[in-house]
Amino acid sequence: MNYSFAPQTKNYESSAVRDILAVIQEGNVISFAGGLPAEDIFPIEAVKNAYEKVFASGKGSLQYGATEGFKPLREAIQAKMEQKGIFTVPEQILLTTGSQQTIDLFSRIMLAPGDVVLTEDPTYLAALQVFRSYGANVVAVKSDEHGMDPEDLRVKMDQFRPKFVYVIPTFSNPDGKAWSNERRQQLLDLSHEYHVLVLEDDPYGDIQFHQDEVYQPIASFDDEQTHVIYTSTFSKSVVPALRTGWATGPAEILQMMVQAKQMNDLHSSSIDQQALYYLLRDFDLNSHIQLIRNVYYERMTIMKDYLNHVEPGLFTWKVPKGGMFIWVEGQEHLDTTVLLGEAVKKGVAFVPGAQFYVNKPKLNTFRINFSHSTPEKIKLGMDRLLEVMMSVPVV
Ligand SMILES: Cc1ncc(COP(=O)(O)O)c(C=O)c1O
Repeated sequence: MNYSFAPQTKNYESSAVRDILAVIQEGNVISFAGGLPAEDIFPIEAVKNAYEKVFASGKGSLQYGATEGFKPLREAIQAKMEQKGIFTVPEQILLTTGSQQTIDLFSRIMLAPGDVVLTEDPTYLAALQVFRSYGANVVAVKSDEHGMDPEDLRVKMDQFRPKFVYVIPTFSNPDGKAWSNERRQQLLDLSHEYHVLVLEDDPYGDIQFHQDEVYQPIASFDDEQTHVIYTSTFSKSVVPALRTGWATGPAEILQMMVQAKQMNDLHSSSIDQQALYYLLRDFDLNSHIQLIRNVYYERMTIMKDYLNHVEPGLFTWKVPKGGMFIWVEGQEHLDTTVLLGEAVKKGVAFVPGAQFYVNKPKLNTFRINFSHSTPEKIKLGMDRLLEVMMSVPVV
C-alpha cells in the first residue's frame, strides 16, 4: 500500500544521533555519543519513595489531571525559579513532557511555513527538527565563545523579522558554551527593539562546575516578562524517565500552549508529576545537584586530561564550565563521520558534529559526553579514542 502522508511530513528528519546509538548499543562499544546523565548516581531510592507516597495518597491520584499540570509541583517550581531570579506565578508555569515538548508546543503555536527562527550554530539537533517540521526556515546567527554576536543578530532581525530566537545560553548542547551576561542582556534588548520572542532552553543550567560564577537566565533580565519563554527540565537533575519539564513566560503565550497541549495529550503524566512533588518536598535535591556537579566535573576532568595528550595542532577544544559535553574541532580537511567509523572499530563512539549545524556543517567537529560513563569506562574509551585521534595525519 502506498501511504499518502500529509505534506508536512516531508520536513520530518530522523535523528542521526538516535541512528548511531541504535547501532552501537549492540556491540562492545563505549559510547560518548548520547546525551545521557549518569545512571550510577540516579536517586533511585528517593524516586521509589516518592511513587509510594503517590499510591498511598489514594485513588484520586490516578485520575485525569489539569492540562497545566499538578498545581503543588508548579508551586514548587515557582520557588525554584525565584532562586534563578525569575519571578513568576504557578498560573504561568506549564508542566510538559520534558522540555522537548515545550519546544514543540511553542513552535506549534508560533510557526507557519516560511517563518524564520534564528538560532546559534551549532545548536540542539532535536530543536532544529521541530522548527523544520513546522515548515520554518532556520537561520544561524554568528557567535563566539561569549554568545551570539549582537551585530549579526541585529542584521538578521532586521533582514528576516524572525518569529523567535532559540538559544541554549548556559552549557549548550552540543558545544558546552556559556554566554556572558552582557550577551544575554544584548539579546534581550534586541528582542524588545524588534518585538521578537526568545525561547530560552535551559536543561543544563544547574550543572555548574564553579560555584563563584553566575549564569543568570535571560528570562531573569526580562523585568516585564513579555519577551522570553523559558524552559527547563527534571531530566538532568532527577531522572529523564520522569519526562517532566516546564515552561514559563507571558500568560497569553502560556494559555495558547495549554490549548495546544490539550489537543496533543490532555496533560502529561500526573503520577510522575505527583511523584516529583513528593521528591522535591522530602528529598534534598540541592545536595543531589551538588553531587551531580562534583561527579560530572571529575569525569570531565579525566576526559580533558586525556585530550591534552593529543598532538598540538590536530584538534582543539574548550574546557566546559558545566553541562555534559566537550566539543572538539579537528583540522579543516577532517571528516569526523569517517573518523567515527574508525572509532567504532576500536570500540568507542562519539557524535559527528555536522548534524548540529544549521546549514553549513563543519565536518571536522564532534561531541563527546562525559556524564554517562564511569571513570573506568571513560579511561578505557579515551585510550581508544586517542589512538584514533592521533592516527589522523597532520596537514
Ligand atoms: C538542549 C536540550 N533541550 C531540550 C532537551 C530535551 O530534554 P527533556 O525533554 O528530557 O527535558 C535536551 C535533551 O537532551 C537538550 O539537550
